[in-house]
Amino acid sequence: MTLDIVSEIRANRLFREACFIDGEWLPVAGDEQISVDNPASGQTIGSVPRLGAEATRRAIESAHRAWPAWRGQTAEARGKVLYRWHELLLEHEQILASIMTLEQGKTHAESAGEIRYAASFFKWFAEEARRAYGRTIPPAGADQHIVVLRQPIGVAAAITPWNFPSSMITRKAGAALAAGCPMVVKPASATPFSALALAVLGEEAGVPAGVFHVVTGSASEIAGEMTGNPLVRKVSFTGSTEVGSRLMRDAATNVQKISLELGGNAPFIVFDDADLDAAVEGAIAAKFRNTGQTCVCVNRFYVQDGVHDAFVARLKERIEAMRLGDGFAPETDIAPLINRAAADKVLSHVDDATRQGATLVSGGRRDERGANYVLPTLLTGIRQSMQVTQEETFGPLVAVSSFRDEAEAIALANNTPFGLAAYFYSENVRRVWRVAEGIEAGMIGINAGLISNPAAPFGGVKASGLGREGASEGLDEYLETKYLLMG
Ligand code: SIN
Repeated sequence: MTLDIVSEIRANRLFREACFIDGEWLPVAGDEQISVDNPASGQTIGSVPRLGAEATRRAIESAHRAWPAWRGQTAEARGKVLYRWHELLLEHEQILASIMTLEQGKTHAESAGEIRYAASFFKWFAEEARRAYGRTIPPAGADQHIVVLRQPIGVAAAITPWNFPSSMITRKAGAALAAGCPMVVKPASATPFSALALAVLGEEAGVPAGVFHVVTGSASEIAGEMTGNPLVRKVSFTGSTEVGSRLMRDAATNVQKISLELGGNAPFIVFDDADLDAAVEGAIAAKFRNTGQTCVCVNRFYVQDGVHDAFVARLKERIEAMRLGDGFAPETDIAPLINRAAADKVLSHVDDATRQGATLVSGGRRDERGANYVLPTLLTGIRQSMQVTQEETFGPLVAVSSFRDEAEAIALANNTPFGLAAYFYSENVRRVWRVAEGIEAGMIGINAGLISNPAAPFGGVKASGLGREGASEGLDEYLETKYLLMG
């Protein structure tokens, strides 16, 4: 990537070094700022304001003032604004992708894919806004009527992660705005520019002032105000289980509704009766998306004895053909990790596994390009005692072990406190049903390595979270149920 690309992106009107509160842009002032680095080069690309509780309160109060007019619009009118926002994202796909690659590191093709994915949530919820149906229920008494209304819950707050800097916002904001709720967003400090670019396009799409805010700054202060302010009626978070469980405790103070999309530890099971070519394709897609930095990325591969060696041989060939590089280089298949700590974690999982007897088949080290670049890595002979089976690696590490039979595979898959995604490959329809029902996870890819879709309810069970995003369930998260008994 050249300096020209950075200057060109910085000069674009979508690149804002400012927060967006109450319909106004508040630029960086003085020393209170957060600098944002390019993971590929370590160079600083810009900075955003370091705001805290007071600015968050202003945003929440502004959202609360904007709420009656926004919920008072018809669902169709709100849907039109979201639909226009979706169109604007697609019209600006290339520059939005460049901003994302610059701050997040993922390949430009993946960033463009994420912009389309992000836009798809606005489109989905633009259409779904009109389907916030209530119902009538046959009453107990002859002269009664029972009517159930679905109404917007109120001001919503979102705390979003760096791995999907646009789509994790649109998945929440699309649902909130469609339901009639304004939203205050705190984007990850590593990737604020994608969020701010969304806000620019939101204004242009006709989102009224006060309905959508982006506040950058101190995570603890902003989150503290979000959970401490009784005007906020809904909190939605995507990130670690540790932070999610803290937020859940804090949200209890004001009994706020909360959705949590937290860590995973996804198993990928290949049965003897699988289509092996499809399983290898699925494995690559499910493991290496965003350099392995996806909550639904595979963490543990379980391959049945009869196909283990053939599967590993094919995977090795694919992994060794991957080109690691800067996300802006068109030939790059796999990009750097977000920062040095992320790369250190992957390498510590490799060390721990090899110390305990795993075999290093490929990779397993940093590339000379820099601290954030880790070669795609393949380990076999993985055992339950190894860190890689217990914690999310969040990097380009494929950890394979073998199993004997179906019961063992299900037991291994479920041997974790997490339950976000799981994947398995089998051509046996009876087995498909048994295993799909037996695995404890919120989402299961069956003969499929990519499961993310705006029309599907995304979310986990156990320590992987609460609530769902996308689908009609995603809209429900921003609606209250009110029942009327008419005598
Ligand atoms: C995530 O990693 O948090 C979400 C990824 C997705 O939506 O597929």
